[in-house]
Amino acid sequence: MRTLEIIGIGMGDPEQLTLQAVAALGRVDVVLLVDKGETTRDLVDLRAQMMARHGRPDLRVVPIPDPRRDRQSPDYQGAVRDWHQRRVLAYEQALLDHVAPDGCAGILVWGDPALYDSTIRIVDGIRERGIVPLAVHVRPGISAVQALAAAHGVVLHGIGEPVVITTGRRLAEAIAGGAPTVVVMLDGDLECRTCTGRGLEILWGAYLGDPRQTLIRGPLDEVIDEIVAVRARLRARHGWIMDTYLLRSSVPTGAVAAGTGAGAVSAGTGRGAVRAATTITTSAAAVIAAPAQIGEV
Ligand SMILES: C[S@@+](CC[C@H](N)C(=O)[O-])C[C@H]1O[C@@H](n2cnc3c(N)ncnc32)[C@H](O)[C@@H]1O
Repeated sequence: MRTLEIIGIGMGDPEQLTLQAVAALGRVDVVLLVDKGETTRDLVDLRAQMMARHGRPDLRVVPIPDPRRDRQSPDYQGAVRDWHQRRVLAYEQALLDHVAPDGCAGILVWGDPALYDSTIRIVDGIRERGIVPLAVHVRPGISAVQALAAAHGVVLHGIGEPVVITTGRRLAEAIAGGAPTVVVMLDGDLECRTCTGRGLEILWGAYLGDPRQTLIRGPLDEVIDEIVAVRARLRARHGWIMDTYLLRSSVPTGAVAAGTGAGAVSAGTGRGAVRAATTITTSAAAVIAAPAQIGEV
């Protein structure tokens, strides 16, 4: 039977790769790599560096072109299901064509495989079809949620309180439902712009775990324009952006009040600098970088 390692690789900081992920990488014969095109070329390169460092010398990489997803369809769930099914077939064929019947394949998943990632569902789809029997192992990774909390140096929730993790598309629903803390991912439009006037605090982070890491924190009403401008500038500069943010009604009970200065901004220039910047944002007095400076990172 073929073995499949689904390996969470975290946010790109090589020091945040778990020992389990490193060991799994060292076992695989073939990495199945979904290539999403040039705009995320640096993410593909980062995976290549991890493979070179931790993979076997004879490790092979099989690129799998990402099937097109119909983003215009009014049936969001249906369009995603259809896209997943085409990915199931692409992965299944790659396993048959490129992995020996007793071989080991690996899929490197950004962040953690259990959070807003379809790999496990796709692999379930392959197993349901029964054409390629698989022994599957999932190796957890550092997610954007954990990286955001660590970068800002905060606990996600108040004592005993819940946290809602959702997408930009469903942010309004989470806020209307009264969630005390909401972490938002997959939000290309910064839906939080529609949530001003409610006394919310935002903790925003882009390129978490990467030398380009950029953090902004403050009352949503006061820093949202700055976030919009910084985000646009960074996206233009790097060709892509991934960001995650936390919204909360106030500093939760049990948390140390930190970074309450409006517009506390920091931009990392390396892992050491990220740590220093995180400390600086915990001081209300330390608004350390005007957005113009961030462009220099
Ligand atoms: C498809 S989801 C993948 C989530 C991933 N599996 C995880 O565990 O974080 C992509 C979303 O994750 C968040 N994300 C991923 N990498 C990020 C990064 N380096 N910095 C900030 N947010 C990131 C963004 O919200 C992005 O839209």
